[in-house]
Amino acid sequence: MFVCVCHSITDKQIEAAVKDHGVGNIRDLKQALNVGSQCGSCVQMAQDIIDTTIVDDSLFKDVG
Ligand code: FES
Repeated sequence: MFVCVCHSITDKQIEAAVKDHGVGNIRDLKQALNVGSQCGSCVQMAQDIIDTTIVDDSLFKDVG
């Protein structure tokens, strides 16, 4: 699913940026993928995906 239409960035790309490149907030994500740097309408959804991915990832680490 596209989150940032302006830059054709999907939710999977954002998840990968968080997991593989240590992206932890919108500022990091902007630098990594340009998300939110044009119209800005994707910022809230991108933030939610960052938050959810961080939580899921830390839960996984606790179990593993
Ligand atoms: S949809 Fe992401 S900057 Fe426009």
